[in-house]
Amino acid sequence: MSSGIATQVTRSTRLTESVREQSPFGEVFSDHMLSAGYQDGHWSAPELLRFGPVMISPAASALHYGQSIFEGFKAHRTVDGGVALFRPGDNLARLNRTAARLAMPAVPAPLFLDGIAELVRLDRDWAPTREGGALYIRPLYFATDEALMVRPSRSYRFIVMSCPVGPYFSEPVRLVAEEEFVRAFPGGTGDVKPAGNYAGALLAAQRAQSSGFHNVLWLDGLQHRLVEESGLMNIVFIIAGAAVTPALTGTILPGVTRDSVLTLLRGMNIRVEERAIAIDEIVAAHEEGTLTEAFGVGTAATVAPIAQIRYRDRDLSFSTDPQHTVGARVRSSLEAIRTGRAEDRHGWLVRV
Ligand code: COI
Repeated sequence: MSSGIATQVTRSTRLTESVREQSPFGEVFSDHMLSAGYQDGHWSAPELLRFGPVMISPAASALHYGQSIFEGFKAHRTVDGGVALFRPGDNLARLNRTAARLAMPAVPAPLFLDGIAELVRLDRDWAPTREGGALYIRPLYFATDEALMVRPSRSYRFIVMSCPVGPYFSEPVRLVAEEEFVRAFPGGTGDVKPAGNYAGALLAAQRAQSSGFHNVLWLDGLQHRLVEESGLMNIVFIIAGAAVTPALTGTILPGVTRDSVLTLLRGMNIRVEERAIAIDEIVAAHEEGTLTEAFGVGTAATVAPIAQIRYRDRDLSFSTDPQHTVGARVRSSLEAIRTGRAEDRHGWLVRV
């Protein structure tokens, strides 16, 4: 089936089995990319192009003033031999919430949904077959006006690329609570996904890594007291059998994986509490023995067990035993839905 999108099919592919199954996260891209431009109120017809460099003016406003957004979601091979996108409509909705926050026009649903379905159909052989592997879809949307006036751009480019990926982390995650830098603050952009959020977080992550951690545990921007996110992911604690995660109060990214995991936990009869969590509560619950587990949830890592959190002079360690953790159970339940091994009761899969 064709959507009628103009397509420049590559004659030579870079795909090999080892590229598909063993590429490091986000370093090898599939043969094609979707591209569409916006100018003065109108979108151009989308095209499927050979993946490669794009021409961009050094004066492009995205480079200077940061009108740039990305999204991320995955396509999986299913047991019936197909390929399915996981909740693409939720990523479109978040992309457009981010666009509104950055004074950028909305990306039309057919451009996003039909264009990406066509891209994945074209490059479907790039989807890994190994357990836990996926074709990671990366939409990118940025301002292209050649203009140094600080104002919303009048022209934009929307590009979608994809890459075969395996697990983001090769081991359980170690975090250090960050008390100097903040990821988000009330009224800021922490609940949406502009590129700049990630630039602002790099130095903290780099410092954490130089001390032997994978990333930081973000605390709130006002008092450095409330737990917000774990590095690039949302975070869930298991306290007295309940799954406790920060409420979406405006400084937390509403992760699609977060929502999926909370839905599945409720279905497993685990009580879910979305509320404020002070770092002191985490320390106390760990001392009492009621805090049994912590895990990060995000698109790239899916569900990542957390082995350690350092807060000041304390080191809290957690079980990451895949046989006995709630995180491992919910991860395999999510994986079973994504790959069509379990019934898609929530209507999350979009088959291409
Ligand atoms: C995610 O997992 O949701 C991400 O956005 C991670 C990405 C920055 C690699």
